[in-house]
Amino acid sequence: MATTFIILKPDAVERGLVGEILGRFERRGLSFLALELRQLDKAVVQRHYIEHKDKPFYDDLVTFLTRGPVIVGVIEGPSQVVEIVRAMMGTTDSGKASPGTIRGDLAMLVDENLIHGSDSPEAAEREIGLFFPEFRLA
Ligand code: TYD
Ligand code: MG
Repeated sequence: MATTFIILKPDAVERGLVGEILGRFERRGLSFLALELRQLDKAVVQRHYIEHKDKPFYDDLVTFLTRGPVIVGVIEGPSQVVEIVRAMMGTTDSGKASPGTIRGDLAMLVDENLIHGSDSPEAAEREIGLFFPEFRLA
């Protein structure tokens, strides 16, 4: 088994899509090891997205992620769980995401794209450590 990390972004909470999105993971057969509604502060979002710090969208991204509460979660599944969750999310630009994906079914924009999911096992470990420092894999 392996783990990955997700954030349901403020647009998902505002639009009442939390149940819809979490339900997709449940129906796929994945399980949650941690799940919490949380208001993120700027500092943690800046650290989370540090790889994008020089991108033109970075400041707007940080402002968006702190606009209102999010759901942060740790998902457990088979060894390829990182890829499974990424595939379920769809491509970053929701306007181009395939039907059947979370972004392709429920969103249209590149910035307000509902969900973050770790893009590698190393990123998942770093992000879980950042958002759930008390969380230790057995
Ligand atoms: P990125 O890590 O490239 O995408 P993903 O969430 O699919 O891993 O980018 C992080 C977030 O930054 C992305 O979810 C939305 C935002 N973003 C923009 O607002 N504009 C852009 O052009 C890109 C590439 C990302
Ligand atoms: Mg990313």
